[in-house]
Amino acid sequence: MNFQPVLDEIDAEIRPLLGAGKVADYIPALARVPAQRFGIALRTCDGEEASAGDAAMSFSIQSISKLFTLTLAMRRMGDALWERIGREPSGNPFNSLVQLENEQGKPRNPFINAGAIAVADRLVSQGNAKADILALLTSLCGEAIGFDDELATSEAHTGFRNIALANFVKSFGKIDNDVDTVLDMYFHQCAIRMSCVQLARAAGFLCRDGAHPIDGQPDITTERHTRRINALMLTCGTYDAAGDVAFSIGLPCKSGVGGGIVAVVPDRLTLCVWSPGLDATGNSLLGMKALERFVSRTGLSIF
Ligand code: DON
Repeated sequence: MNFQPVLDEIDAEIRPLLGAGKVADYIPALARVPAQRFGIALRTCDGEEASAGDAAMSFSIQSISKLFTLTLAMRRMGDALWERIGREPSGNPFNSLVQLENEQGKPRNPFINAGAIAVADRLVSQGNAKADILALLTSLCGEAIGFDDELATSEAHTGFRNIALANFVKSFGKIDNDVDTVLDMYFHQCAIRMSCVQLARAAGFLCRDGAHPIDGQPDITTERHTRRINALMLTCGTYDAAGDVAFSIGLPCKSGVGGGIVAVVPDRLTLCVWSPGLDATGNSLLGMKALERFVSRTGLSIF
């Protein structure tokens, strides 16, 4: 299939809607991002790439980083990771504290903030977490990837809820390291900057059974882990909108409050859309519209 005309058409349809939704403003450095942006990019399992709109512009990947930290942690710890983190949708906002009290500090899944902070703790225990995540992303997309340090500082200054979540999980003995060190990792992973083109490439191992998206070596993760990461994306990747996203799009997705969404069509391609205006659940409003259009045009869905 030639995907370029499909992406060009979607870009032309979305562009008149630019500005819809609300740019995340709870982190001051994020609030400055112009709302009038839309990008879309994909990479097939065979290495074909297509993109449209602002696909080469870098943005803050925010919670999309949770996909890659989870991959690293699963690779290193295997099933031991699940002793402290669940695999159930939370049905609550991504930064909610309420379930943690009833569930003795075991986060529902690795994609809500508490779960991602617990994953960051595992990575801090096992290496140089900040360097490790940048090395993974740089290898996956074949281009140097870095942190937006100003954004990481802004996250740290306003991350009251994340600080509360980390301390709360630690109070149940489910974080081993110093909370400040774990949060430094978490705030930095959220502040990584990448473009749609880079993210569509980097996520490529998820549509090819864990093989490296560029060189094809079977070394990013196993086929079993890839299936599980895709399952978690479908059930938990878009927070309390996950049911709706499965219903209307039908692809494993991971979103971030920077307005990016990564989606996987297993055995076919990975796709990334970006538009900073968010809906009430914290997912990109136009990004979701673009994914719906992509699926209805191409018929590509897991169902
Ligand atoms: O933890 C936070 O508040 C952000 N830095 C990341 C949140 C995020 O992207 C959640 N996603 N939709």
